[in-house]
Formats: sequence, C-alpha cells, structure tokens
Amino acid sequence: MDKKEKHKEIINEMIRVNQAGEFGAQKIYEGQLAVLPKDKTIKGMAKQEKIHLEEFNKLMIKNRVRPTAMSPIWAVGGFFLGASSALIGRDAAMACTLAVEEVIDKHYEDQEKKLKKNVKDMELLKLVKKFRNEEIEHKNIAIENNAKNARGYKLLSFGIRNITRAAIKISKKI
Ligand SMILES: [Fe+2]
Ligand SMILES: [Fe+2]
Repeated sequence: MDKKEKHKEIINEMIRVNQAGEFGAQKIYEGQLAVLPKDKTIKGMAKQEKIHLEEFNKLMIKNRVRPTAMSPIWAVGGFFLGASSALIGRDAAMACTLAVEEVIDKHYEDQEKKLKKNVKDMELLKLVKKFRNEEIEHKNIAIENNAKNARGYKLLSFGIRNITRAAIKISKKI
C-alpha cells in the first residue's frame, strides 16, 4: 500500500466510525424520546445529532466509504440504551448522555490531533471540531440536568462508557 492509499484508508476509517457514532447517538435519543416524548432539552440535543449524522452521511457518499456492517446492531442497541435509561428516570437518561458524550468528546479530540498532524483533511477536521464542541455542550447540559444524581450513577456511567468504546472500536473495522 502506498502513502496515498494509506492516507485514504485512515480517512475512510474515520468517516465510517464517525457516521456510525452519530447514527448510534441519534438512535439513543430516539429511544429516550420514545419514553419522554415532550422533553424539550432532549429534543434539542437530538436535533443537533441529526445534523451531525446528515453531514457524515454526505461525506460518506462523497468519499465512497461503505457504512459499518454493524448499523442494524447499533440501531437496536442505541434505541435500547436510550429507552432503558429513560425508563429508569430522566436523571438516568442524562447520565447515559453524559457517559456517551464523554467518550465521543475524547474520540473526536484524538481525531482532531491526528487530522492536524499526520493526515491532513481540512473538510473532515472542520466537521470534527464543530461537532466536538456540540458534544461538549451536550455533556454540560446533561450535568446541568442532574446526570450525576442518577441512582447508581457510577456503575451506569462505567457500563455505558465501556459499551460506547467497544462500539467505536468495532465500527472502525467492521
Ligand atoms: Fe453527535
Ligand atoms: Fe451529542
């Protein structure tokens, strides 16, 4: 594989995992809204996630990147995670958002670094920067909305962070 091919493969992997992540995020919010349909705060975040997903969908088509084969699993898993956390309570739904966004923030931060240093792709970098800021906003909104007061917060957060990390790892390759 020459340098150009290698570069393309790294970019493709980034687009694939980001699209998968935003797809999963959308499903999580769908699940939460199925239980809490009138929640304006959750609706507001879901709206931003929809834009994130649309932008990565576009980039995916433009770069001819295949989506992750795990999409059907992420759809069910994301929805289940969102709905079950919201069923525990609004605090738990927020704890779920906080845990996911902590991992996504870190994931986008790593990508930002890579995109600045090794693999230059300004279009992707711009999106990652913008979306990362919004994920940080979501994180703060979740904290303001009592995420940390959820019953069993520590365990819940630990579990969801690990699930999210695993999903990212798998989506890069499969
Ligand atoms: Fe997002
Ligand atoms: Fe988000």
